[in-house]
Amino acid sequence: MTRTEAIATAPVDDRAAVVRQDLDNVLHPVVAHRQLEAEPLVIVEGRGSTVIDADGTEYLDAMAGLWCVNVGYGRTELADVAAAQMRALPYYPHTAMNAPAAELAGKVNGLLGGDNHVYFVASGSEANEAAFKIARQYMKHEHPDQARYKTISRYLGYHGTTLATLAAGGMGDRKTKFEPLSGNDFVHVAAPYCYRCPFGLTYPSCELACVKNIEATIQGEGPETVSTVLVEPVMSAVGVAVPPDEYLPEVAAIAKKYGCLLHVDEVINGFGRTGAMFAHQHYGVRPDIVTIAKGLVSAYLPIAATVVRNDVFTSFVGEPSENRQVFQISTYGGHPVAAAVALRNVGIIIEERLVERSAENGAYLLDGLRTLLKHPWVGDVRGKGLLAGVELVKDRATKAIVPPDGIKRVVDFARRHGVIVGRSGGGRHLGSTIVLSPPLVITRSEIDRVVAVLDGAIAELGQQLAAS
Ligand SMILES: Cc1ncc(COP(=O)(O)O)c(C=O)c1O
Repeated sequence: MTRTEAIATAPVDDRAAVVRQDLDNVLHPVVAHRQLEAEPLVIVEGRGSTVIDADGTEYLDAMAGLWCVNVGYGRTELADVAAAQMRALPYYPHTAMNAPAAELAGKVNGLLGGDNHVYFVASGSEANEAAFKIARQYMKHEHPDQARYKTISRYLGYHGTTLATLAAGGMGDRKTKFEPLSGNDFVHVAAPYCYRCPFGLTYPSCELACVKNIEATIQGEGPETVSTVLVEPVMSAVGVAVPPDEYLPEVAAIAKKYGCLLHVDEVINGFGRTGAMFAHQHYGVRPDIVTIAKGLVSAYLPIAATVVRNDVFTSFVGEPSENRQVFQISTYGGHPVAAAVALRNVGIIIEERLVERSAENGAYLLDGLRTLLKHPWVGDVRGKGLLAGVELVKDRATKAIVPPDGIKRVVDFARRHGVIVGRSGGGRHLGSTIVLSPPLVITRSEIDRVVAVLDGAIAELGQQLAAS
């Protein structure tokens, strides 16, 4: 397909006019507007792992957008599915049933072990919000004598952009502008961020102090006040923190011991990102609640879900007079077009063995990234599947943090050399990590390119990073 065909409904003949119109009218998320003025990007087309600017510049997108375009760009098959479903039924509220959402729920349920029900929403934040509410309502049904409303979550985690999900998250610099957030609903514990262990310990002699911290916190809060323990198995936004293998099983055991539901956030981790269909499956745990988004539909349309085990679901089954049903609705929940596209997207992930490919090429990527340890400014390289982080430091012995503008220089260098990488770090400016989360279809030669460009960036900018 030519570019003109691909963008027939929105031709971008005059890039400068789009930039002007955008700057005059659009309020963008997260990026400083002065930066947008200086470095506008007008993406008009994508194929595989590559996106193309309206000026014809090609970029290898090693972030898959926002950690989400798992099947890669340019799947016209998904456009055909959307068009066909839109012609048949563009929308009807999910108080009724529709075939694509029912089939998608069946598919997701099967992938998650087969004893679940699926509540559909439109974004990862909404999925987590719904999870908090479902857990609280469940606790009111099952423990009417208790007030189990708190969620135990980790510092440095990210779970979404709404007020409650921000409060659940533990990334200080994302929160400060909006604080104070909600009262004591979200109680934070230490993250399993081994490179900068909050207890100053080293695995395995640490004996998982971060897990003990969860138990002590539940005891301190009073188990009868806690509804859920929330974890993202491989923490993404902190700069990709992979916990020790025993971490998640031990957290699951503690949640169970104190009667809390285990809520696993698979918004980024899910659908092959870490080399398993879902990251918690690496560790053999069965969560009570799983939230999914991004890779569910490779971001071709907005759809997400809160998946609950049947022993939670049954608490919501009853006659209208019993008032046990889920007490919320989202207009776009169960959207038939998004569900049809998601269903085909999951089909592609399975048929093209993208989960296995993520595991294999993830190992290849990690091997490549480990060669960067030859630079004294690379403090740590870590990852699982096609989710990886390269933490830069001013000095390897002291682990002194490279400030945000130093990391931005590396990101900019990569972009000038045709590769889009991300940067991340949790806390209040803690951490300084280049993050990678490419489409699962990325090839080995593309991986080599990503590594070579980062190698060039660190070699050229290393001295500056150390002095920054
Ligand atoms: C782990 C995690 N959970 C939830 C969310 C929120 O998803 P959304 O941006 O679709 O609301 C994100 C977003 O990046 C995420 O990384």
